[in-house]
Amino acid sequence: GKTAVLMGGTSAEREVSLMSGSGVLHALKSQGVDAYAFDPSTRDLADLKREGFARVFIALHGRHGEDGCVQGALELLGVPYTGSGVLSSALCMDKTMSKRIFVAEGLPTPRWLWLGATEQSRERIRTIPDDLGLPLIVKPPREGSSIGITKVAGYSEMAAAVTLATQYDPDLLCEEFIEGEEVTCPVIGTGDGATALPVIRIVAPEGNYDYQHKYFTDDTRYLCPSGLPEDEEREIQRIVVAAYRALGCRGWGRADLMIRAADRKPFLLEMNTSPGMTGHSLVPKSAQAVGISYEQLCVQLLAAATL
Ligand code: DAL
Ligand code: MG
Repeated sequence: GKTAVLMGGTSAEREVSLMSGSGVLHALKSQGVDAYAFDPSTRDLADLKREGFARVFIALHGRHGEDGCVQGALELLGVPYTGSGVLSSALCMDKTMSKRIFVAEGLPTPRWLWLGATEQSRERIRTIPDDLGLPLIVKPPREGSSIGITKVAGYSEMAAAVTLATQYDPDLLCEEFIEGEEVTCPVIGTGDGATALPVIRIVAPEGNYDYQHKYFTDDTRYLCPSGLPEDEEREIQRIVVAAYRALGCRGWGRADLMIRAADRKPFLLEMNTSPGMTGHSLVPKSAQAVGISYEQLCVQLLAAATL
């Protein structure tokens, strides 16, 4: 039957989703899949059912696409979809909730403070560096692609960082900054079958792997093979699969981590349940390193679509 590639949507990552979606759509068509673009921001999701779509590839990112909302709607419509289900998607979209699961499972994640909308007084914000040290990271807990994130170097920068983050989420996540190397590691499969793909080490100019570097410049280097010692690579993969399973992920995902320079300890930052599939994106690069082409990856993910 027909396949819909969900792309676009209304989140701050709409532009990224359109890039992911067009890549996926093109790849699926090239493999003979009867696939069509479907933007939930301009169409009624119930059209999927009315028009006889047999399954859906979710290439949406962020709010309403990656956070369990669209997944819940598809459950109600009875249309199988790629990737994680409702609860897992919601847990992973919220970095604070994910971190609580990591801690409960004994998995390493940077220390953090969560401040709800009513707790963000000037006085409280001023004391955050006392608790987490400097530099520290201020981020909206439910965003992607580094949108709304600031690395704060001094007390005087806190107010602007909070103003930026709260444009995207009324709640606030402040995190200890882990000085070291940035890595990412995809996982494919479900339950006992969940398998980590090779780790990618990200080397961005001056360590600024931000929205612009993620999608629009070519000066970031993505090392895969990572060049990490074998035991470090294995340990990262172990932690990432444990996190993926603890969060109840399905189909595919990609964890982002920091390796602390001082002692080489890896720290989980988050799990992405609808990772980017743009020309700059990292799951396709890692899959490529083990001989899985972009087209094969899309077909494999779609074949695992479920309710
Ligand atoms: N949030 C972006 C799409 C990613 O994680 O790849
Ligand atoms: Mg993310």
